[in-house]
Amino acid sequence: MSDVLPEEVTALAEAVGPEPDELVEEMDARAEREGFPTVGPAVGGWLALLARVVDARRVFEFGSGFGYSAYWFARELPADGEVVLTEVDRDELEDARTYFERAGLADRARFEHGDAIETVTEYEGPFDVVLVDNEKSRYVEAFEAVREKVREGGLVLADNAVTAGPIDRTDVLALLSGESVEASDASRGIADYLGHVREAEGFETALLPLGEGVAVSVRRD
Ligand SMILES: C[S@@+](CC[C@H](N)C(=O)[O-])C[C@H]1O[C@@H](n2cnc3c(N)ncnc32)[C@H](O)[C@@H]1O
Repeated sequence: MSDVLPEEVTALAEAVGPEPDELVEEMDARAEREGFPTVGPAVGGWLALLARVVDARRVFEFGSGFGYSAYWFARELPADGEVVLTEVDRDELEDARTYFERAGLADRARFEHGDAIETVTEYEGPFDVVLVDNEKSRYVEAFEAVREKVREGGLVLADNAVTAGPIDRTDVLALLSGESVEASDASRGIADYLGHVREAEGFETALLPLGEGVAVSVRRD
């Protein structure tokens, strides 16, 4: 993780809550050890809070890794709720299943191996919350694949809206402002996405500058 905010602000956000549990802490330790890019606990807390605010029952994730962000969502869902995890890496997905089974939450999760953008075509909406966290160059594609499946008042959240390894926020801002710059594919993917959701009819977007930055788009109609 390369947090946007100073370390002590992130620590403060984590200290305020919502509370992680022992499994979240175990997954955090794993992410740290392996350098795996989860959303981290400060954003995880926001995912949980946002799911609660919109009274989420169904969540779809594009790119779930070993299930960290999905687990923050799952804890907020009712017993008959559902979070759909998608992952191209079979081992990561199996680890997610194991974490969910240990937590007694596997019955409210679907584990889909393969390309998330293909998988979403197999699902009918409505979804209350969607998390976009797959390849940055395909964020627009992911949004277009799911936008009609998001219910009114539902949310599309996109991680890495500000930073991540190859993303340069200066380039993102320049591209968003219409300047022509040499930029990585990832920076270009994020700039395309932010420009796209800014213009998307029926959606209102704002940036949550926590963790690596989350673009929060609400479906108005
Ligand atoms: C940043 S990680 C996801 C982290 C997860 N959302 C979390 O916070 O714990 C991105 C994951 O998306 C997976 N991925 C990338 N492109 C994908 C695609 N098209 N379909 C499904 N998974 C994909 C990668 O293998 C990787 O595990």
